[in-house]
Amino acid sequence: MRILVTGGAGYIGSHACQRLLKDGHTVVALDNLLRGHQKPMDMLKAAHAKSFNFVHADLGDSKAVLETLDTNELDTVMHFGALAYVGESVEDPLWYYRNNISSGIGLLDACDAAHGGKGIKRFIFSSSCATYGNPPTNMIPVPEHCPQSPTSPYGYTKLHFEHILKDYANKRTIDNNPIALTMLRYFNVAGSDRTGMLGEDHTPETHLIPVAIDAALGKRESMSIFGTDYPTPDGTNIRDYVHVEDLISAHALAMDSTQIGQIEAFNVGIGKGYSVREILDSVKRVSGVDFTVHDAPKRAGDAIALYNNPAKIKSTLGWDAQITDIDEVVASAFNWLKDHPNGYRD
Ligand SMILES: NC(=O)c1ccc[n+]([C@@H]2O[C@H](COP(=O)([O-])OP(=O)(O)OC[C@H]3O[C@@H](n4cnc5c(N)ncnc54)[C@H](O)[C@@H]3O)[C@@H](O)[C@H]2O)c1
Repeated sequence: MRILVTGGAGYIGSHACQRLLKDGHTVVALDNLLRGHQKPMDMLKAAHAKSFNFVHADLGDSKAVLETLDTNELDTVMHFGALAYVGESVEDPLWYYRNNISSGIGLLDACDAAHGGKGIKRFIFSSSCATYGNPPTNMIPVPEHCPQSPTSPYGYTKLHFEHILKDYANKRTIDNNPIALTMLRYFNVAGSDRTGMLGEDHTPETHLIPVAIDAALGKRESMSIFGTDYPTPDGTNIRDYVHVEDLISAHALAMDSTQIGQIEAFNVGIGKGYSVREILDSVKRVSGVDFTVHDAPKRAGDAIALYNNPAKIKSTLGWDAQITDIDEVVASAFNWLKDHPNGYRD
């Protein structure tokens, strides 16, 4: 297929480009480089000169997106491009709504106008378990029919964009020009490409595994656990960590399986939760470093336990996580960060 990958220079988007190119697709990554990196784009271009291109543009620039779709004859969009930090979204909600919603609508305008008004055929959206907020305990593990009730502006941007996409897909059906729409609600994405080419380089970094690895590598003196008296076996929060390569496999399956005219939503998580302490123990095992950990007060809005019920994605797409050993997930992240102490700036 011929695929536009928005946010293609970011952590997950770059891994998606790599896998799609390996599978023989033609890929154009589009990114404004606010949070993404030029270097993985250059590496992918060097490895796939004929089937890969990078466009430095903003999602909201409909003209640039339209030109990209038309000149490259792209019919499928994987939409990873977004601002993606919960805390930052609380501090500057309007920026988050403007970027993730308004610019996202700019992208949809271009998707609608592409190919002489015929529009694109497939759209796969990076949604989030943040749309579920703090699910009731009888909804854990979390199924897709769990009520969606975000606890942050970031979560709301993802939920609102799901609604916008559904309305757009319904309009395309009414116009007798249907589209295949898949919304993938990721749990915590972790690890990096096991060939060692791509990694996770976020500034600022807020995700637990890379933060703990930074502590193990001596890039920070210590780290904190926010809340140690939750009603969980060891008192810390529980989350579901899906390896980035397994996550991209879910995209590949969704692209092939969701039929034109269908609207589908799937959770993507392995279906097992790990506590914060279990993750830190894994990072200590993998790195061999017993870094300092401080107990800190709970953060407002943090769910106690959040992990996936993968029944629907297993039965419908035939997806199952291949990398379920947490040490293997952590090792893939650790190896890249150890070899690239300055991330992509090396
Ligand atoms: N990392 C996770 O654990 C996780 C979990 C759930 C959902 N998600 C979603 O997955 C997607 C990718 O996340 P990530 O961790 O790779 O984040 P990332 O920040 O590494 O990648 C996002 C990319 O989008 C680009 N971008 C943002 N706004 C843009 C705009 N207006 N125009 C063009 N490019 C723009 C950024 O420059 C960046 O390269 C996001 O939509 C995020 O909300 C991530």
